[in-house]
Amino acid sequence: MKKVLRSQEWFGKKGKDGFIYRAWMKNQGIPAYEFEGKPVIGICNTWSELTPCNSHFRELAQSVKRGILQAGGFPVEFPVMSLGETLIKPTAMLYRNLVSMDVEESIRANPLDGVVLLCGCDKTTPSLVMGACSVNIPTIVVSGGPMLTGKFRGKDIGTSDIWRFTDDLRAGLMTEEELNMAEAGMCRSHGHCAVMGTASSMACMVESLGLSLPENAAIPAADSNRKVLAQLSGKRIVQMVHEDLKLSDILTRKAFENAIKVNAAIGGSTNFAIHLLAIAGRIGIDLSLDEFDNLSASIPLMANLQPSGSFFMEDFCYAGGLPALLKEIESFLHHDCITANGKTLQENYTKARCYNREVIASLDKPFNNFPALAVLHGNLCENGAVIKPSAASPHLFQHSGKAVVFENIEDYKLRIDDPDLPVDENSVLVLKNVGPKGYPGMPEVGNMTIPVKLLAKGVKDLVRISDGRMSGTGFGTVVLHISPEATLGGNFSVLQTGDLITLDVPGRTLNVDLPEEELSRRKNQWKPLPLDIERGYVNLYINHVEQAHLGADFGFLKGGSGSKVSRDSH
Ligand code: FES
Repeated sequence: MKKVLRSQEWFGKKGKDGFIYRAWMKNQGIPAYEFEGKPVIGICNTWSELTPCNSHFRELAQSVKRGILQAGGFPVEFPVMSLGETLIKPTAMLYRNLVSMDVEESIRANPLDGVVLLCGCDKTTPSLVMGACSVNIPTIVVSGGPMLTGKFRGKDIGTSDIWRFTDDLRAGLMTEEELNMAEAGMCRSHGHCAVMGTASSMACMVESLGLSLPENAAIPAADSNRKVLAQLSGKRIVQMVHEDLKLSDILTRKAFENAIKVNAAIGGSTNFAIHLLAIAGRIGIDLSLDEFDNLSASIPLMANLQPSGSFFMEDFCYAGGLPALLKEIESFLHHDCITANGKTLQENYTKARCYNREVIASLDKPFNNFPALAVLHGNLCENGAVIKPSAASPHLFQHSGKAVVFENIEDYKLRIDDPDLPVDENSVLVLKNVGPKGYPGMPEVGNMTIPVKLLAKGVKDLVRISDGRMSGTGFGTVVLHISPEATLGGNFSVLQTGDLITLDVPGRTLNVDLPEEELSRRKNQWKPLPLDIERGYVNLYINHVEQAHLGADFGFLKGGSGSKVSRDSH
């Protein structure tokens, strides 16, 4: 029996309702036959000139439309709020859940049978996937692709170099003029950050989950093959509607386990954990933060990409891209997970080849054996914290040092370069109140800069701990996502300068050397910093956001409401 399309509940109606649903659409010059049972495909577009990483999406949407039309579908493009990582204040993460609500309600409320999600800059991927999961109709992701590799004085550069350049400027090793030249050479084309930062990790995540066509993760935005992939995705989503291949068919527990293992092999972003937990929560997969460690621990680093390695996403593409890496680690993967093109993950990579062993390692000779994510527990992080060993300094994996505590981001900015700051190469920098509720929005400030007086002595890394996040392009021995966060009054909240902190990455612990009685005494005297946000979205956010170890989603958004709309207004 032929499936009755969801869109026909609008366009298939007779009388006044059908008249209204169709007549206003016809002002766009759409002939009557388009409404007679063609799959209506929404193109969810995060194009914005304020989101430079997604600024080519109107063109990309045209390629998707061509594919939809060729396959007999009816394309309709719609905008949603777009989050540009570099411009949005106070932090794009504050709005991830808001965008997911925009996406969810836009899909459900409209006559759509399938959706193409155009994702690029960091938060534009998880927010769109989260929203779509809560509706659960056939959905495919098209990523915008990475930028071409940056160039500065004959060398390749990418976003991870920003921290090196600015430290060099502060240490007097680089001039303002040189920094300006690097700035001009960094972003040479459309696309998202060219390293294995959060945007690239998200693109790999959707491909390894099976939500995109193969090779989606690495084709550069400027490569004509990116448009080819967009057109093929447009063709495919129409078939997915006919097959009724929904997100819940693809996003199984096994698919999530594959994505976690792939993130370990690519040296993916720490933000991956927070976003994947949120996506799992929307589609009803019970996933815990500790599983990220368990599943990642045996996976070596296979991709030599910044910030864990040396190369860039463009190099990754030319070396064979994600399919070549998947083939290399296939012994770790579930093979039978169905993907957006209707084939299994294994079928998609089985013919893949690696063309450059400097970029994608072979399993018998990986780049290193440090995982991309380790989960810590201890009296400073009862619910967990994360660190990225593959981008940290091995000599600091087991380290004890005295805390230098900053109570909030303003305190940190005021004092980090104070010549009297009691800091040396053994110190542990601590930044509080940058968590989901406390900031609010959990900004990417966890990789605090090294104090200038230590830079002058040649110190390149320190243990740094916070309840905030770090850019996926960042690196260093940085403990992040401490849960419970400082604003909730746990042990982390009462940490003081001079306390002895011990990090043990192999043992997966983070502790402060204080007796329980002293911690209790301090907690009894502790008072939260005032949060004087009385209205609007931010008020909703601080009242409903969950802790980092749960994905920082709103509790009331967990799960989904499906695609059914029981009432109409005409
Ligand atoms: Fe958009 Fe890095 S700023 S991906």
